[in-house]
Amino acid sequence: MEITKQHLILIGLMGSGKSSVSRCLSTLTGMQYLDTDWMVEAQMRKPITEIFTQFGEARFRELEHEMISKAVSESEPSIISTGGGAVVNAANRELLWRHGWVTYLQADAELLAERTARDQNRPLLHTKNPASCITELLQARAPFYEQADWLVPIRGQSIEQVAEEIHRRWRAVTRR
Ligand code: S3P
Repeated sequence: MEITKQHLILIGLMGSGKSSVSRCLSTLTGMQYLDTDWMVEAQMRKPITEIFTQFGEARFRELEHEMISKAVSESEPSIISTGGGAVVNAANRELLWRHGWVTYLQADAELLAERTARDQNRPLLHTKNPASCITELLQARAPFYEQADWLVPIRGQSIEQVAEEIHRRWRAVTRR
């Protein structure tokens, strides 16, 4: 089973720093970086907000699943950053956990709300009260996030510190 775990996968809610930490990890490890949100955008040639508006969340979730399948099938070990809702789908979880070491970038709702406050490309937060939306999403998704192989708290840590912690764990399991 573990032999197939060849990627380094980041999960966590919007604003937890998956993209920044992935970029840093890519520099530290020399591994390529894939972002499933960007893959969806590239496939549709549209930003995520437009995909949600024109086709709806259900279509986005189908595309997200396709891109996750594609990313984990890469023959080259890769850093894979996922969208915050990817882990809700059981088929996505099965693929992610089977093909990679999954890290949950753990943060409290207050910090996540602060970090996403000025972001426009997150359609789920286009509501009257984005902070309470973050609280609800975190509550609903935490049981999935917490199934990660590694849980790394981000509060008080720089992007580099978080990436180094994940890199340390990665070296320990892959002996690289
Ligand atoms: C979503 C998170 C977003 C993106 C989409 C839906 C979610 O990704 O996939 O807007 O359901 O939490 P980030 O977590 O990278 O912002």
